[in-house]
Amino acid sequence: MTVLVTGGAGYIGSITTRLLVERGFGVVVLDSLELGHRAAVNDVPLVVGNIADSDLVTRVCREHKVSDVVHFAAYKAVGESMQNPTKYFDNNVAGTHSLIAAVVSAGVENVVFSSTAAIYGDPDIVPVTEDAEVRCESVYAATKRMTEQILEWYSATRNLRSVSLRYFNAAGAASDGTLGEDWRYSQNLVPHVMKALLGFAPALKVFGNDYSTPDGTGIRDYIHVEDLAESHVAALQYLRGGGDTMICNVGTGVGTSVMDIISTTERVTGRAVPYDIAPRRAGDPARYFANASKAERVLGWTSRRLLDDIIASAFAWHSAHPHGHAASQA
Ligand code: WQD
Repeated sequence: MTVLVTGGAGYIGSITTRLLVERGFGVVVLDSLELGHRAAVNDVPLVVGNIADSDLVTRVCREHKVSDVVHFAAYKAVGESMQNPTKYFDNNVAGTHSLIAAVVSAGVENVVFSSTAAIYGDPDIVPVTEDAEVRCESVYAATKRMTEQILEWYSATRNLRSVSLRYFNAAGAASDGTLGEDWRYSQNLVPHVMKALLGFAPALKVFGNDYSTPDGTGIRDYIHVEDLAESHVAALQYLRGGGDTMICNVGTGVGTSVMDIISTTERVTGRAVPYDIAPRRAGDPARYFANASKAERVLGWTSRRLLDDIIASAFAWHSAHPHGHAASQA
């Protein structure tokens, strides 16, 4: 029994792949290496190719006796998805559907899918539960919701069960400092804070300090990438134990503002974060964070790492790898 991890050479995928191997799962990675890095996969079997290549996926499933899929491979830049919707629908929806059809035909019964809290848009009630209204405000979010629906329909019609994990804001790096995010491709807050702190970018732009939040800056739920990786292992064990198809939030339940991130970074690293207040970024909600009680109840999963761990691990990773994995390949 082998787990096929698509996108296993990427940020969250590589950290989850390593955890699966540590926990005794057989793993094969499928990654196009367009955004992922060979160095992030280490000695785990890696197939370089596209999720939309049905012949390849079928062959990998047969050769590696694949029983489960953890599906990360996707484009994830919200702004780009509005500029180039075709790219996102092609890869994230059509490519994913092709993958699902191929693996179902090959006898795979369990899929763990990377969904997103972006599906909730600007929720009326926080902490946000899984039954909150779906309000996709970007093509990116819509592609993730469509995939959840495809998975639900395959459960209704074929022998496939799935867990769609709705991630809140993934951040941080592996605690041993060897795996992390390539900030060249990231639009997210923590990598931007680190870039400014380490002098690889001008001052951080704080997008708006006039929101109706205690310090005026946006509030999110930052989840340590290693805790996020653990949730995939828990979801896989749940499915292997016969669990039904479901959707589940993965967050800490704690709301953190942009100014909290800056002050925590300054305290943990002992260095000043250069920043300026800038206008709000279009489409940014003021505040959301997870109600993560379903993950605890159904998967037995809770986040364990703290914001300090997120910042310390991100600082260690980016300081040592300012060019992402490219540095470790040199
Ligand atoms: C966090 C906060 C910004 C950058 C997006 C996607 C979501 C998910 C993660 C996945 C906000 C503020 C940010 C900066 C800032 N996707 N900020 N200056 O927007 O919550 O979520 O990324 O793959 O689907 O929607 O995350 O990290 O961009 O922003 O002030 O330079 O930091 O306004 O309040 P976001 P983020």
